[in-house]
Amino acid sequence: MYVVAAAVIITALIVGGVSYYWFVLSRPSANVVEIYHWWTSGGEADAINALVAYFNTQYPNVTVIQSPVAGGAGYVFKAVIKPLVLAGEAPDSFQLHAGYEGQPYYDGGYLDSITNLFNDEHWANFMPKVVLDMVKFGNDYYAVPLDIHRANVVWYNKPLLTAHNINASTLTTWNLFFDACQKLKNEGVTSPISLGDSGKWAASHVLEQMIAGEGISFYQDYVNGLVTSPTDTKLVDALNNFKRYLNFTNTDHASLTWDQATARLITNASAFNVMGDWANGEFLKAGKVYGTFYGTFVAPGTQGYYGLVVDCFEHPKGVKHADNSLNWLKIVGSKAGQDAFNPLKGSISPRNDSDTTKYGPYQRLFAIPDFRAAAHMYPSVVHGSGAPESFTTKLDDIMSAFVTNKDVSAAATALTNAITASHDDYTKVWSL
Ligand code: GAL
Repeated sequence: MYVVAAAVIITALIVGGVSYYWFVLSRPSANVVEIYHWWTSGGEADAINALVAYFNTQYPNVTVIQSPVAGGAGYVFKAVIKPLVLAGEAPDSFQLHAGYEGQPYYDGGYLDSITNLFNDEHWANFMPKVVLDMVKFGNDYYAVPLDIHRANVVWYNKPLLTAHNINASTLTTWNLFFDACQKLKNEGVTSPISLGDSGKWAASHVLEQMIAGEGISFYQDYVNGLVTSPTDTKLVDALNNFKRYLNFTNTDHASLTWDQATARLITNASAFNVMGDWANGEFLKAGKVYGTFYGTFVAPGTQGYYGLVVDCFEHPKGVKHADNSLNWLKIVGSKAGQDAFNPLKGSISPRNDSDTTKYGPYQRLFAIPDFRAAAHMYPSVVHGSGAPESFTTKLDDIMSAFVTNKDVSAAATALTNAITASHDDYTKVWSL
């Protein structure tokens, strides 16, 4: 009996050992690259899928695992990714805005320098200095820019404006813009402006363009942490403009996402939407034609300015698939990768050798020429670049209180207090 038992045990050990060898030790480790991002709206998803498809033409044996976290501007994503990175569980690469948003990861030593990759790919020869400076910490590069979005865009429904005899090209000041909104309202358009601030940031996004509309030197002071007086006339003026703006928005704005707000233009429910040019991806997805169904003009007061929203990917330290991560970055920075992604996303490529024939009329007629001719470019605060995280995390709450109470002086006080409290974190001096 002991003999039988021993034989059974020995057999079990052999079989177990052999199967352990076959199933575990000899199995090649999965050839994947895991990336995190927040691109889940129709246009956003099409764009990232096109980039992944291009990656797979270059690396057919590598499976890209996308882990999207829904929520425009990454308002949910950012709270998910940070604890992962801090716990040493960073994915192989993740979406990150250029500028200050990377600062905590750099300060904590969670990112590897990718200066060698930048040099090998000669990216510095192809991308504008303003963007390159935003992905450098110290003397090294830490993130690869994939796109340049324009923040200061007013989207409009063309048939609706035509039906009410409004010429979009005349709406060059906020006063003229509000006159047009009033006319639409008088003539039966209940909510001329669409807003979807369920993630709070879309309200801050509008205010940001109004701050830029007060002039580039004021915006420069804002991102340098120098707007510290609650009675600052330009700050108060921007907030007053936003208060007027709220007279014309849809009442259910707090329950709509940004893309649901854009959809209000697509369904002829509203005439205007102030949003970055990821909105263009939604019009494309809906099959709408730029210049026929929809059009754009720059946010009043920001003519000649280009509000920058730049998405990047980076190489976190100690990731599971380091080579695949670097190959992913190579594709992110490549001309073909960017020209697959940006036409669908609504943005333009940061590369000066981008093939503009691949882009639609919005980019060819509006974004690209304006980018090339821009007198000033300004980094978005709402989208992570322009100001330290300690300020931006408070900004959305302040603006979400404002859309309800419309108290200009309370908001001016809260904003300037927040800037003052973050004084030591404003480590970058912007010169716009
Ligand atoms: C921005 C991001 C864009 C766009 C938008 C809405 O912050 O840079 O790529 O997706 O959010 O989600």
